[in-house]
Amino acid sequence: MLSKASLNLVLLAGLIAPSDGAIFSREVSKANLEAAYGALQQWYNHSNGLWIPSLTVLTGVATVDTSMKQQIAGVIAETFVKAPHYSPEMAKVVDMENERYLMQTFYGDRWPFLPPWYVQQHGRPHRHTFKNFINDDEGWWALGWIAAYDLTQDHRYLTQAQIIFRDMYSVFGKINCSRNNAGVGGIWWDKNHTYVNAIANELFFSTAASLANRAGSSSGGLSYLDIAKKQLAWFRGTGMIQSNFTINDGLDQQTCRNNGGTIWTYNQGVILGGLVELSKATSDKFYIDTAHNIANAAIATLAPSGILRGFLRAELWRGWLAIQRNLRQEFACPAQSKPKGPIQRLLQA
Ligand SMILES: *[C@@H]1O[C@H](CO)[C@@H](O)[C@H](O)[C@H]1NC(C)=O
Ligand SMILES: *[C@@H]1O[C@H](CO)[C@@H](O)[C@H](O)[C@H]1NC(C)=O
Ligand SMILES: *[C@@H]1O[C@H](CO)[C@@H](O)[C@H](O)[C@H]1NC(C)=O
Ligand SMILES: *[C@@H]1O[C@H](CO)[C@@H](O)[C@H](O)[C@H]1NC(C)=O
Repeated sequence: MLSKASLNLVLLAGLIAPSDGAIFSREVSKANLEAAYGALQQWYNHSNGLWIPSLTVLTGVATVDTSMKQQIAGVIAETFVKAPHYSPEMAKVVDMENERYLMQTFYGDRWPFLPPWYVQQHGRPHRHTFKNFINDDEGWWALGWIAAYDLTQDHRYLTQAQIIFRDMYSVFGKINCSRNNAGVGGIWWDKNHTYVNAIANELFFSTAASLANRAGSSSGGLSYLDIAKKQLAWFRGTGMIQSNFTINDGLDQQTCRNNGGTIWTYNQGVILGGLVELSKATSDKFYIDTAHNIANAAIATLAPSGILRGFLRAELWRGWLAIQRNLRQEFACPAQSKPKGPIQRLLQA
């Protein structure tokens, strides 16, 4: 069952989604959207600048309802200043008993609390920066700051995304499974180099591709476009994308091949954003075609009845939102044909 918080998030995402782009005829009233935003903000904590949903959800609200823009820009600015002092006091542990490849998250100041054995073995996690022990958390922050930049054009946010990206980049192409017949790439999931998974690598790819379209010459010596292309080639070379275009959780550290882990929704969703950005950067149709294949496979596998199934609350809404947002962005391009079949049904669901 979804908790009340997640229901509100799913509801909010649904309200945001159908209203942008003339191809979607369903009307969404601003009053509904603003009510959903109000519910969402009950989970916002002004003292640490954090809340359960994400920056990207809020920027989505402001994009649809411009009368909310100023207020939301204020919340984002507060998060920018306050969150680094709190958010990274968190640890993720993978491979707990019973739940292979399911990451468990623990916090310093709220439930579920860091287990005593963890603190004993590893000490307390670091604070005071958006950098983090876990590369996938860094990637979520980076994409959030890029969305904040798109909304506000405030360069501090873009710069922050670049700083975070550079931290992830420090292991790019230097991991155990970095070389395959498609090239060299890849990053670790964590700073302790225990696992190579799809989500960290998709977030890295999407951030690189997004920065390629925004950071221009102020890239501090990195070619984001080049990195994005290499990363995607490597990712395809690992076999994490199966022949039917669904994406599994990660790589087997011994064989460097697909470990057959769970097909999480967010792993089907995040890559779409990167593919959309890369197609904008290159005008190469291959990337959009790949996005279609992945989206169709995700829908067929995870939403056969038109309702997306997910297993974890946060994972469900993130994945759902990523798929919806990215498809919508793609179909908003004038050159793109209108959505058909299962994609159209999903977008209208
Ligand atoms: C808000 O954040 C502060 C600082 O982390 C914390 O002490 C407080 O308990 C939080 N409030 C709620 C309602 O979670
Ligand atoms: C990472 O590995 C080192 C060495 O094994 C260990 O001391 C440290 O506590 C680990 N950190 C985390 C967060 O697992
Ligand atoms: C990575 O490879 C090294 C040897 O090349 C090995 O010792 C280490 O266990 C591998 N890491 C993982 C997570 O399997
Ligand atoms: C794709 O393959 C996976 C297993 O490898 C399976 O779980 C999934 O249902 C398949 N999806 C489709 C649409 O065939």
